[in-house]
Amino acid sequence: MARAKIALIGAGNIGGTLAHLAAVKELGDVVMFDIADGLPQGKALDIAESGPSAGFDAAMSGTSDYADIAGADVCIVTAGVARKPGMSRDDLLGINLKVMKSVGEGIAKHAPDAFVICITNPLDAMVWALREFSGLPHEKVCGMAGVLDSARFRHFLAEEFQVSMRDVTAFVLGGHGDTMVPLVRYSTVAGIPLPDMVKMGWTTQEKLDAIVQRTRDGGAEIVGLLKTGSAFYAPATSAIEMAEAYLKDQKRVLPCAAYVDGAYGLNGFYVGVPTVIGAGGVEKVIEISMSKEEQAMFDSSVSAVKGLVEACKGIDNSLT
Ligand code: APR
Repeated sequence: MARAKIALIGAGNIGGTLAHLAAVKELGDVVMFDIADGLPQGKALDIAESGPSAGFDAAMSGTSDYADIAGADVCIVTAGVARKPGMSRDDLLGINLKVMKSVGEGIAKHAPDAFVICITNPLDAMVWALREFSGLPHEKVCGMAGVLDSARFRHFLAEEFQVSMRDVTAFVLGGHGDTMVPLVRYSTVAGIPLPDMVKMGWTTQEKLDAIVQRTRDGGAEIVGLLKTGSAFYAPATSAIEMAEAYLKDQKRVLPCAAYVDGAYGLNGFYVGVPTVIGAGGVEKVIEISMSKEEQAMFDSSVSAVKGLVEACKGIDNSLT
């Protein structure tokens, strides 16, 4: 069987890391697209030259021509600008909306059958806009945020409990921003819900609250340390997990920014929810029951995303 083709739209920090991970994991041949002269070609060649030592078979190429993404099975979108210290994800909206228009048109023309994973921020609004501009089926366009937010939450919890992160599960709902909703009740250590871990004396409610807040601020913490850009290793690894679920029809249960139509009282809206990802793309949105307090947090996250979608409509009136 021919290898899968993975198109990476944006060959910056996340794009380069995605290419490297896709190659090392032999997920398929990689085409990197970017408007920066020489950047995708240079990174592709550098990664290809690591192949003999790393021992992978995957063709790597770089391009500034959308025609070269033709027939891609997966497109992962990181094109746009990243945050600098002092900026929120929402500050990127105006610039990145324009980028989503050109990317959406490029994918629609050359790779309309691809599973598209958007990473560009502000994530929930950008994935919505990318879907609108591309016209692809909703189940084939989603956004990477929940896997990353859960991974951050799991990392902090594993450190706190001094256990393997493999045995920590975490559940995060809502938009990828300050209003994201880490759901403590559905997060566990080997099946033991976090509130029980507090009762068992493994941690305190205060420490748990601090971890939840650190998870919400996880992106900003990295921006503050790096100073010149935002996180890229963990975001790329998270998107590769989603791409692999699609390419291998794994039916993984992963949180992502998905089109929710009917569940959670939403009518046709992109926001972070648990989903099943397999060969059909986002095959299912899983609706969980929430307490009043959790529902209120989710609702406020949804209205923050709605505000950003309205702002997009105000900037580009082709988005109705
Ligand atoms: N088409 C293609 N590529 C573009 C376009 C465009 N219209 N506009 C910008 N780019 C490219 C830039 O040339 C750059 O190489 O997108 C790349 C972005 O890379 P970085 O600046 O390194 O940003 P990165 O850290 O990869 O993050 C990308 O993901 O997490 C989000 O907030 C982050 O929105 C940002 C995106």
